[in-house]
This record gives sequence, C-alpha cells and structure tokens, in this order.
Amino acid sequence: MPTLAERIAQCGACHGEDGNSRLENIPSLAGQPSFFTLNQLILMREGVRKVEAMAPFVKGLTDADIQALSDHYEKLAPRPSEETVHPARVERGAKIAAQRRCESCHLPSLAGQQQMPRLAKQRIDYMIHAMKQYLTDSRSGADTAMTAAIFGLRDEELAALAHWAAGK
Ligand code: HEC
Ligand code: HEC
Repeated sequence: MPTLAERIAQCGACHGEDGNSRLENIPSLAGQPSFFTLNQLILMREGVRKVEAMAPFVKGLTDADIQALSDHYEKLAPRPSEETVHPARVERGAKIAAQRRCESCHLPSLAGQQQMPRLAKQRIDYMIHAMKQYLTDSRSGADTAMTAAIFGLRDEELAALAHWAAGK
C-alpha cells in the first residue's frame, strides 16, 4: 500500500502540490475543513459521489488514510488561483449572497465549517461548475441544502457569486 506521502503526491498532480489547484474545474483542497474533505472522500470511496477521474485514487483508502489526508489538507494555506477576480462581479455577487444567506452556512469569512466547504479563494471555474451540478441534480450524493440555496439563479448570477467567494 502507498504511504501517506505517496498518496499526497498522487493527489497533488491534480489538486496542486500545496493543495491549491492550477487546473480548470479541479478544486483546491488547502484550508478545507477536515470534516468536509473526510465526508466527500467517504462518499467517493463508497461510489455515492461519482468522480471518474478520482476513482483509482480513492479505491482502497482506509478510514485512517482518509482522516490523515483530510487533516493534511486542512493545515495548508489557501491561495488564490491565477484567475482574474472582477470587482463589478464581486459587488453583484455580494448582494445575491446576502439575499440567499450563503454566509449562514459557509461563515462570513467563507472558511466553511463541518460538512460545509470553504469557498474563500476556491477556483472560480470550479465553483461555477459545482453550482451547475447542484442545479441540474448531477452531483450524486449532494446535500440538497445547496440546491435550495441557489434555486432559480441564472448563469450570470452564479458567476457573480463565484467571483465574490474567490475574492474573499
Ligand atoms: C486525476 C486527477 C485527480 C486526482 C489524482 C485526484 N483528484 Fe480529487 N478531484 C478531481 C476532480 C476532477 C474533482 C472534481 C469533481 C467534480 O467535478 O465533482 C475532484 C474532487 C475532489 C474532492 C472534492 C472537493 C470539493 O471541493 O468538492 C476532494 C475532497 C478530493 N478531490 C480529494 C482528493 C484526494 C485526497 C486525492 C488523492 C488521494 C485526489 N483527490 C486525487 C481530480 C483528481
Ligand atoms: C443551508 C446551508 C447552505 C447555504 C445557505 C449555502 N450552502 Fe453552499 N454548501 C452547503 C453544503 C452542505 C455544501 C456541501 C454539499 C455537498 O455535500 O455536496 C455546500 C457546497 C457549496 C459549493 C461547492 C463547493 C465545493 O468545494 O464543492 C459551493 C460553490 C457553494 N456551496 C456555494 C454557495 C453559495 C454561493 C451560497 C449562497 C448563494 C451557498 N453555498 C449557500 C451548504 C449551504
């Protein structure tokens, strides 16, 4: 079985060596609440959240491996991606976020808590992709709280929210 360091090197090829992703539609893991990462990895290992790209890497992870990986990523410092955050979109996103009460779950700092992910400094493209998955019911195993929170929003509004969160 691979050691923890070998596993982290595998994950880093996609999620970034320091846990900050440089690849389109691949989320950063740095600074994520350990419980969120743990929860998602269990969902993936059990085939409840289906992510084809990750299937070979979650296969055979023990509960102890998952705990160690989740604790590792929680400790890394989140860094903004190379994407440009547009101030006009941040301003618009902040208004929508206030109406939809995003901070009530993701916290005012957007650092996340428990099973709720960090959004601050997350990749813009990934957050848009994730929100579209919730709206089209195509993220298997997803918490329905999120679908309700963004129900009825248009693409342009989802983009504004993603710029707002990335810029935090
Ligand atoms: C071949 C690329 C690849 C590798 C290697 C990989 N992942 Fe992923 N990972 C992805 C993609 C792509 C997604 C986004 C899936 C989606 O669109 O729903 C993802 C999503 C995740 C998520 C969900 C995060 C979120 O914010 O929703 C976690 C947690 C995760 N990966 C952890 C890991 C860990 C830990 C490893 C190593 C054991 C790993 N990944 C290896 C591609 C990869
Ligand atoms: C009632 C609590 C709640 C509210 C309100 C809420 N969220 Fe979430 N959000 C969650 C939970 C729980 C998840 C993880 C869901 C899962 O397991 O798929 C999540 C996941 C996400 C994700 C996916 C991130 C990732 O790394 O995979 C994004 C993006 C997101 N929320 C954005 C928002 C935005 C923007 C708002 C406001 C419009 C919002 N959320 C309001 C609970 C909430």
